[in-house]
Order: sequence, then structure tokens, then C-alpha cells
Amino acid sequence: MERRLRFSFFLFTLLLLSSTARSDLVISKVERWVELSSHIVRVMSLLKVENEGPDDVSEVLLAFPDAQSKNLAAIRTFYTEGKKSSFVLPTEPTEPKGKPSDVTFYSIALPKKLAKGKTVSLEVLAVFTHSLKPFPEEITQAESQLVVYTDNLYYTSPYPVKHQSLVFRLPGRVESYTKYPKVKHVESELRYGPFEEQPAFSYSPVVVHFENNNPFAVANELVREIEISHWGNVRVTEQYTLSHGGARLKNGFSRIEYQARPYVRGASSFRTLVARLPPRANSVYYRDEIGNISTSHLWGDSQRTQLEIEPRFPIFGGWKTTFTVGYDLPLQDFLFEADGGKRVLNITFGCPIGEILVEKHIVKVVLPEGSKDISVATLFPTKQSQAVKYSHLDIVGRPVVVLEKDNVVPELNLYFQVYYKFNNISLLSEPMMLIVGIFLLFVACIVYMHTDLAISKTSSSYLEKLQWEEVQATVLRIRNIFDQYLTVHDKLESSLRELSRNGDVQTCKAVRKAADAQFKELTKELKPLLTFLQSCSQASSILPKIEELVTKEREMQEKEMAKHTTVVESFEKKSGGKDIESRIASQQQKLASLRQEVEALLESIAEI
Ligand SMILES: *[C@@H]1O[C@H](CO)[C@@H](O)[C@H](O)[C@H]1NC(C)=O
Ligand SMILES: *[C@@H]1O[C@H](CO)[C@@H](O)[C@H](O)[C@H]1NC(C)=O
Repeated sequence: MERRLRFSFFLFTLLLLSSTARSDLVISKVERWVELSSHIVRVMSLLKVENEGPDDVSEVLLAFPDAQSKNLAAIRTFYTEGKKSSFVLPTEPTEPKGKPSDVTFYSIALPKKLAKGKTVSLEVLAVFTHSLKPFPEEITQAESQLVVYTDNLYYTSPYPVKHQSLVFRLPGRVESYTKYPKVKHVESELRYGPFEEQPAFSYSPVVVHFENNNPFAVANELVREIEISHWGNVRVTEQYTLSHGGARLKNGFSRIEYQARPYVRGASSFRTLVARLPPRANSVYYRDEIGNISTSHLWGDSQRTQLEIEPRFPIFGGWKTTFTVGYDLPLQDFLFEADGGKRVLNITFGCPIGEILVEKHIVKVVLPEGSKDISVATLFPTKQSQAVKYSHLDIVGRPVVVLEKDNVVPELNLYFQVYYKFNNISLLSEPMMLIVGIFLLFVACIVYMHTDLAISKTSSSYLEKLQWEEVQATVLRIRNIFDQYLTVHDKLESSLRELSRNGDVQTCKAVRKAADAQFKELTKELKPLLTFLQSCSQASSILPKIEELVTKEREMQEKEMAKHTTVVESFEKKSGGKDIESRIASQQQKLASLRQEVEALLESIAEI
């Protein structure tokens, strides 16, 4: 195994030193800390660099064998002067003359020249991906994941190193490691060294084989769309293709076993991920192909909003899932005024989920329609292009800035800026379009109505219109008739009141006779109107109400007449007032409710 993992590059000799590092720098001390607890490997090197030559030096070179540098996702150099806070020094790839073909160099620009005999302290953080190889490559559900990490025992440097040490920080059990005389395994640390006086590019392989069950969360692709609306909103949509980058699962998956003891029967899998969204994120959703995933949790305070992402199944080695997370952000937190009348969007690059590797990251910034003079500022190189997005109401489309970067680690979640010019008039273009649109619709309606009137009198739409007018007129006449019915009812009621006051039975009977005749007359008048409505398709919606009205009215007439008869007869028999009232009490009640119903129905047919 060691042979397989061994670097191939360390065949060059000290001869290289003279050509690549002409300066007389020496590393008087380097301590290396290799953090192996997640699947992203971080190497922190604390360097003391001394100038032993006669000339001032303004740069320090870092060297990485290609086998490592191809996985180098981020590099950062911190410089601390005295007790002041540290700051970041520019660290860029470089190709020194006579550089060996299988080594990549980076150059650190020193803040001031290093004079003869002086020393500078630097801290270099290098972040590597794809550097932990699962071994074995396939495991069962119940097994722990073991991985192998290979490095150089000595600090790879174009300069001689006087004093050095190496520490591996491990997340758990160690299966095996390369035994050198100077090695100590203390709890979660494996310490090699110290080693004295090593020449430049010294090499000796060191391999660590250890347990690592931390989530190997890999976003094979993350497309993040940031859409600016000058109406106060930034809409972020993140589409993930997520997988487990560790040892592949073999012999299938048993959910029963998993559910019984998820930490034992699924140790290498991961179930939840936490996304840290900006504070004041709102309208957050999380969904996959099936729909919203409601088991996810959202919580937050003034500092941040956290979304717990829980896929529908635990993710084992080699498994994949896709999902989308979306949220809104307040515009004023991210969009600012910039020099030259420009606006600047200042927002973070990368993925809000912690300890995730994004193999392919695409960021699309959708600017408002009409944005011009677009430029982008990032702290690291990205592939940039422009596109256009159309949504409703857009005329020329919205300019889209597209940034692409491979192997994005949390260290690259840095702010980037998109500058653009925007004319406020453009902001009004959409509402103006709405207004113009509504106006045009209005004009079209008027034109249509005029044409409708002007069309031939035999056309079907004209006939329909006439018929509809006929229906309306008929309904009006029907309402009129019912109003008259009610007036007759009122007359009958008042005749009874008169009777109880003056005892004039004859007059009362006369009123009743007249009422009878009026009811008949009205019913006769009503009949043809009803027949017309029944024959007319356009009246179908109103007809049931009118028919109900007829029924209720007929019932009311019957009750009214019965009551009238009862009262008049009682009067003729000289019954007492109390006696009469109790006899008609129930009829009275029924009549009152019928009248209410009739009035309600009349009201409802008034609105056609
Ligand atoms: C999913 O959630 C979003 C935001 O809460 C909501 O607008 C949408 O209607 C939901 N969709 C379904 C299918 O439940
Ligand atoms: C972007 O925002 C961050 C955080 O608020 C701030 O530190 C940084 O200076 C801003 N960058 C620019 C160019 O405005």
C-alpha cells in the first residue's frame, strides 16, 4: 500500500536549490499541524524564515509536490508583527526559473524587505481536498470508515530547514502509522520529530491509517442563484447534488438495522447537515423532487439563521441526493452605493453548509433589467461569464453574472462584489409596463364593446345580448309582481288590525275578497313570465331562485288566508282577544319567517 501511495516526485536533488531559490533564505524553524478530523485536510505551518544572505529579500517561496497541489483548494498566509493583530499576505502561484516539473510553487509577498540576518514569522494555512483515501474502499453498513493519509515527514521546501516537527490531529482510533524512531502517539495526536538540519526538498513518506466517521459531505454540484430585486429583496436559490465522498456501502442497506441503532449500524453515514444562512433570512424552504421536507428545522437570532437539512434517508458512501434550498434576504443588508454612481452587491461566495466540499460551484447573480457597466471583484480566481435571464415583464432580460469554481472549501466563503450601474428610470419600467398594459387592455375592451354593438343584428352574439336583456327585463317584472303580492299581504294584515279595533266584519271580508282577486290576477300575470324564463337558457342560473320564490309565496298566501279565516270566524263567535292570539300564534310565526325568506330571495334576484 505504501508503495502505491508514495509520491513519485522526490527524485530531484539539492542541485535544484541553487536555481530555484537563489536567495539565501533558511527556515530556522517550522512546526506543522495536520488536522485530519474532517474530510477536508488543513495543514497549518508555523514558519520562521531567516535571511542569511547579503541581499534584502521580498518574497518567500512555498513548494508543494504536484500530487498535493492538485488538491490544494485554498492557501492563506498570516503575518503577525509584534503583538498587533495578524493580517493576510498575498500568496500567489509562481513559476521560478529552473523549477522542477512536478512541484508547484507559491510566492508570499512580504510586507517589507527582509534584511540580512533578520527573521520573519509566517503562518501558512493550506487546505486540501480529496486527500483522505478510504481504505478499504467498500464497507458494510455496520463498519466504521477507515482512511489513509500520506504526507512528507519533512517540510517540503526549497530552503534548508534547521529545526522541524510534525503533528497529526486525529478524530479517533488509529489503525497504523509509519514508525520512525522519533514518533509519539499521545491521545488524539501523532507527533513526529523534532528533526534537525534537513536539506531543501528532503523527503521521507509518512502514512497514517485511521478511523474517520465524520460526514464526508460532498456537493458534486451547487448552483446558487442570487436574484436582486430593487423592490427590496435578494432571492437566493441553491440547488444541490449532494453525495457521500467516503467508502462506498456494500451488501446493501437495512433500514431496520439502521433505525434500531443508527450510530452503530450506520456509523459512516450522515443524516443531518446544518446550513448557516445570513441573519434576517426569511421565506426559507427546503425541498427535493418529492416536495417540501417539513422535518427540517429552522431557528435563528440576530446573528444568524440556521437551517437543519435532513434528507429523507441517511447518506452512505457513494449515495447521492438532490435538493433545493431557497430564502429571501433584505436588500439593504447586501446592496450598497459605490463610487461613480454605481451600486455594489456584497455577498458571500460558497456554500452555507459547514464542512462541505463543493466540487463544482456555480454562482449566478441576476441583476435588475437595465443594469450596465457590470464588473466583479473576487479574492481568488474564478471563471467568469455573462448570461441573460428572462422572467415575466422583462423586455430585454436581466443580465446574469456567472462565476464558476471547482473545489470550493469553507475557507473560500469570502465576500465578493458585483458592481453595476443602474438608472432609476429602469426601476419604473415594470410598473410602467403594468400601467401601460392595463391601459391597453382597457382600450381593447372599449373597442371590443363598440364592435360588439356594431356587429350585424343577426349575428349570434347580438341575439344572445338581446336575449339577456330580455331576461333582465323579465326578472324586473317578476320582482314587481312579488312586491305587489307583499302589498296585498300587508292589506290583509291591516284589515285584521282594523277588525280588532272596530269589529267591522263586513269590511274585513270585503278586503279579503279583493285580496283574493288580486292574488289571482298577479298569479295570472306571473305565469307567462315564468314560462319565458324556463325556456331561456340564459336564465338557468336565476330560475331556481324564482321558482323557490313562487313556492314560498304560495305557501304564504295559504297561511295568510287560513289565519284570516281563523281570526274572522273567532270574531264572529265572539271569542276573547287572548283566545284568538293563542290560536293563531303558530301561524303567525310561520308567516313571519316565510316573509323573511321571500324578502331575502327578492333581494338576491335583484343583483343580476
Ligand atoms: C413548500 O413550502 C413553500 C414555502 O413554505 C410554500 O410556498 C409551498 O407552497 C410549499 N409547497 C408544497 C408543495 O407544500
Ligand atoms: C463586504 O461586507 C463585509 C461584511 O460586512 C465587509 O467586511 C467588507 O468590507 C465588505 N466589502 C466591500 C467591498 O464592501
